[in-house]
Amino acid sequence: MADVVVQNLGRRIGNLEILKDVSFTVAEGEFLTLLGPSGCGKSTTLNALAGLDRPSAGRIVVGGETFYDEARGIFVDARYRNLGLMFQSYALWPHMTVAQNLDFTLEIRKLRGAEARKRVMESLELVDMAQYAGRYPGELSGGQQQRVALARTLVYQPKLLLLDEPLSNLDAKLRDRARDWLRDLQRRTGVTTIYVTHDQTEALSLSDRIIVMNQGRIVQHGTPTTIYETPGSMFVADFVGASNAFEAEVVGFEEGTARLRLGEDTHILVRPEFTPELGERLTVTIRPERIEAVTGDSAAEPNDFSVLVDATSYQGARTVYGFALGGQRVRFEAAAGLDSDTTARIRLPVEAIRVYRADA
Ligand SMILES: Nc1ncnc2c1ncn2[C@@H]1O[C@H](COP(=O)(O)OP(=O)(O)OP(=O)(O)O)[C@@H](O)[C@H]1O
Ligand SMILES: [Mg+2]
Repeated sequence: MADVVVQNLGRRIGNLEILKDVSFTVAEGEFLTLLGPSGCGKSTTLNALAGLDRPSAGRIVVGGETFYDEARGIFVDARYRNLGLMFQSYALWPHMTVAQNLDFTLEIRKLRGAEARKRVMESLELVDMAQYAGRYPGELSGGQQQRVALARTLVYQPKLLLLDEPLSNLDAKLRDRARDWLRDLQRRTGVTTIYVTHDQTEALSLSDRIIVMNQGRIVQHGTPTTIYETPGSMFVADFVGASNAFEAEVVGFEEGTARLRLGEDTHILVRPEFTPELGERLTVTIRPERIEAVTGDSAAEPNDFSVLVDATSYQGARTVYGFALGGQRVRFEAAAGLDSDTTARIRLPVEAIRVYRADA
């Protein structure tokens, strides 16, 4: 049974349509991420679930309880939804110790005494912060404060966890650690989670499923692998992971492949999922890590090119190289070192290339 049902959600402010026909479900215990660029409507969707913002169309049901139904005039106030909310600005109360921060959250919900003390310590243990119970927020690092904020959200055992960019103000290293830790915590507690981010790495590594949004709409919906390996549009290919993209013209067909002219006299073979027309202009994408540097004297394959590698950028575990192909810039990644300003044999494997219609 789906734990969360969002149906045809719409949000209008004046004549601005901020959300259009947003529908999705989340199963019990699932980790779902809303991913998209700034302003695409992620927070508006989350706030609608939390009851902090009233949508203008649609329906929201959580655990069988209708929180919002425009047609029936139902809107349950945030206070009665019992959801765990954590925002980018997760301010702890500075004049209270860590334990008091959690305890106060329970007191608001009229839970006091031994049961409250037990829950506070259990939640702090869950985030590995029990030993800091007596400290004040000002005496903790940013990452530790973040963990306390999450413990404060978990302490009243919400049926749904709503997290809006909770890791965005941590430095890169802490964010990596917090991500692993958050994933682990969610698995252990099994709490259904909806997570908002514009960071594709976070989305890919944390989620069971990802919803990609753009301009108030859902543009793709799937597992991290599906979203990354088979983006349904240029927008998703570009937003989720870096892609090379170039325009090319269909100049011929041969055995299930189409021959495209990239520019000058460079042609590549592609296998589109649709039937293009002769002369049609298509957008071709390929991920930098799917481009191969061919070494030794292996047999030539389609889309092998001899190119001048004229740019290198060392990035630790891998190096990013650049070259020109048919007048267009292409980047690729490799672990082994290639010399700059040398001619190399480069392969764009047919199965690694995705093709989109120009208007898609
Ligand atoms: N009260 C408001 N009045 C007018 N426009 C608003 C209002 N609240 C939000 N918007 C607009 O709605 C759109 C969606 O906002 P939202 O906060 O949901 O984006 P987001 O995806 O969370 O972006 P970010 O990644 O920057 O947080 C934005 O274009 C924003 O400017
Ligand atoms: Mg936001």
